Amino acid sequence: MPLPKGDYVSDVWKDGIFANKVVFCTGGAGTICSAQVRAMVHLGANACIVGRNVEKTENMATDIATARKDAKVIGIGNVDVRNVESIQAAVHKTIEELGGIDYVIAGAAGNFLAPINQLSPNAFKSVMDIDVLGSYNTLKATLPSLAISAKRTKTESSPSPLGGRIIFVSATLHYTGTPLQAHVGVAKAGVDALSNSVAIEFGPRGITSNVIAPGPIAGTEGMERLSRKEDAAAGKKQIPLGRWGTVREIADATVYLFSEAAGYVNGTTLVVDGGSWRTQSTN
Ligand code: HXC
Repeated sequence: MPLPKGDYVSDVWKDGIFANKVVFCTGGAGTICSAQVRAMVHLGANACIVGRNVEKTENMATDIATARKDAKVIGIGNVDVRNVESIQAAVHKTIEELGGIDYVIAGAAGNFLAPINQLSPNAFKSVMDIDVLGSYNTLKATLPSLAISAKRTKTESSPSPLGGRIIFVSATLHYTGTPLQAHVGVAKAGVDALSNSVAIEFGPRGITSNVIAPGPIAGTEGMERLSRKEDAAAGKKQIPLGRWGTVREIADATVYLFSEAAGYVNGTTLVVDGGSWRTQSTN
């Protein structure tokens, strides 16, 4: 029984707008990325999610597939974004089983709270490797498919291809500097820079690259790992909209960037944080 669309993505989106499209997502078993993929599947896409944990990734794929009666969603575990070969193998399987890749979400990330002077070089490197190298590897492995999709979906009546699009999932930590998050802030700045270069270098081939920077989103692994319960009330007060965000709001931003409505959006960052980074403090 398909789940009600409105629970996972706004009813403003038309059913079937992503029919015959394929989404490839790293970190797809995580709270935010699975919501992004679920929304796309609700709206007609098929998908492949990859992750390190086999059981978690396969179970999430099965769960996402319930979003639509005829959905095909593959979950591939044992994929570490630090290893480009493992992503390439997943890409090949996706092409074999789903026919190609139109949209990519580079969402795999690593995070923990640590003061700079207690971070080991290996700890710093681990986050850089997962976030920056992992995003690069994801791009590298999927670029040929994105180029094919951009070419195939560009028509005279629609100059903006409905395919060949990548979204990098970043953060707002580095806009101001965030305590205990130096490693992640540096990494996310790198992810943003990578997206900007992709937008410039591959825009001429019809590929668009954008970043979504989620703020404090309720119920996510990031919030679990990074916020202390005793700080929650004060944290919420600092958000101009006075509430945590929802994963549905990240899903909606994703649908927008992959939709026809965002055909001319390239090389930008969509911050979905209720305005909170503007009031970010070091407390
Ligand atoms: C200090 C730590 C640490 C901690 C790990 N390390 N946790 N150092 N404080 N809490 C150090 C280890 O001691 C080791 O250094 C190095 O990091 C690598 O750790 P491993 O466990 O061997 O690495 P690995 O198994 O690859 O795990 C990577 C990881 C882990 C990043 C450390 O947390 C992970 O797998 N995370 C993936 C899931 C995740 O983080 N999701 C949250 C995303 S939320 P030494 O020197 O001892 O060898 C998110 C939101 C961002 O990204 C935006 C927020 C607003």
